[in-house]
Amino acid sequence: MKLTVVGGGSTYTPELIDGFARLRDTLPVEELVLVDPAAERLELVGGLARRIFARQAHPGRIVTTSDLDAGIDGAAAVLLQLRVGGQAARERDETWPLECGCIGQETTGAGGLAKALRTVPVVLDIAERVRRTNPRAWIIDFTNPVGIVTRALLQAGHRAVGLCNVAIGLQRKFAALLGTDPREVHLDHVGLNHLTWETGVRLGGPEGANVLPKLLAEHGDAIADDLRLPRPLLDRLGVIPSYYLRYYYAHDEVVRELRTKPSRASEVAAMERRLLAMYGDPSLDEKPSLLAERGGAFYSEAAVDLAAALLRAAGSPYQVVNTLNKGTLPFLPDDAVIEVQAAVGPTGPVPLPVPELDPLYAGLVANVTAYEDLALEAALRGGRDRVFRALLAHPLIGQYEYADTLTDRLIAHNREHLAWA
Ligand code: G6P
Ligand code: MN
Repeated sequence: MKLTVVGGGSTYTPELIDGFARLRDTLPVEELVLVDPAAERLELVGGLARRIFARQAHPGRIVTTSDLDAGIDGAAAVLLQLRVGGQAARERDETWPLECGCIGQETTGAGGLAKALRTVPVVLDIAERVRRTNPRAWIIDFTNPVGIVTRALLQAGHRAVGLCNVAIGLQRKFAALLGTDPREVHLDHVGLNHLTWETGVRLGGPEGANVLPKLLAEHGDAIADDLRLPRPLLDRLGVIPSYYLRYYYAHDEVVRELRTKPSRASEVAAMERRLLAMYGDPSLDEKPSLLAERGGAFYSEAAVDLAAALLRAAGSPYQVVNTLNKGTLPFLPDDAVIEVQAAVGPTGPVPLPVPELDPLYAGLVANVTAYEDLALEAALRGGRDRVFRALLAHPLIGQYEYADTLTDRLIAHNREHLAWA
């Protein structure tokens, strides 16, 4: 089986390679192709990838190329993990919204819209090329903003599934707190990408006993610390929000915090320089521990599991993915993309039923879905007015003066990536 990673020169790639090497029984890969336009970086990452495979006696071949069409030819699945404009564009996304008192974040708020506008056309172009060479291939999208990018792919009729590591991270965390195997922990996970809540934590599967109340009672402080939200808030909600909800529930506090410290992009850029220097060392043949300081923990497990389920009906029976709503959340359009548990097999994901959602969460989900819809319109068709409409619809922006100022800044900071600007 051949698998292709677009954005294979990412410093995250060794995480993925490590997963493919460890989990080779779940997903036997014969050829793994890393595609990236940055040839020098690709060679550093590819070299380490080959050493990781060799150390673990993995029989698969690792190929590096800057030729996208050659890279995707014959692939059973294509993983997208690219970042248009690199950390430099991310740094800007995290900075200019703060000047208006709005959150500066790579996927949430105005920065996330900028990322969507840069990314959607590039991803759609890649997907078209995949469809031309390989119409049966699955596209697994980790490229952010995953909800909007996945919706763009599905709307254009591609065989795509969106993936994020937030749920698997919580599953591992809760399993450790409960002293049980992560495979035993099933999350009732609901919402949109980077806007989710765990409304139940079950043992053994979707029908298992809900231990969320016990988890909160016994480990609420540890969970609240991790999320950087106050413990009493978790007790009042009775559900566990993802850490991205902090950008909503503690928006002004986070803005104040972000104004006093270096951007995450600059931290990541510094980490990437160190990582790339390590990757160039021929004696290194495993993923360095520094990689654990990135946000992508367990991303490889989730990716291998998803690819295995789509390609050979192996892996975990239920997985948290981004896919079409199709009535799962009845208050959203069928073609909205939601992030929920799904039964995943070779015909794609089928969401598990979700009990009626508390209006406290449903309201925000509906609002952000409308924003994502407008964001996708802006990404596909361009134009100042479409950008303004998306920003005005965002629950963290909402006022016309902010939306106008942010529209101008977004366009000014991203002109080189926007064909229409
Ligand atoms: C988590 C999110 C990803 C995001 C990453 C950022 O893993 O699920 O969508 O890309 O965090 O991590 P970073 O180390 O780049 O800040
Ligand atoms: Mn994510």
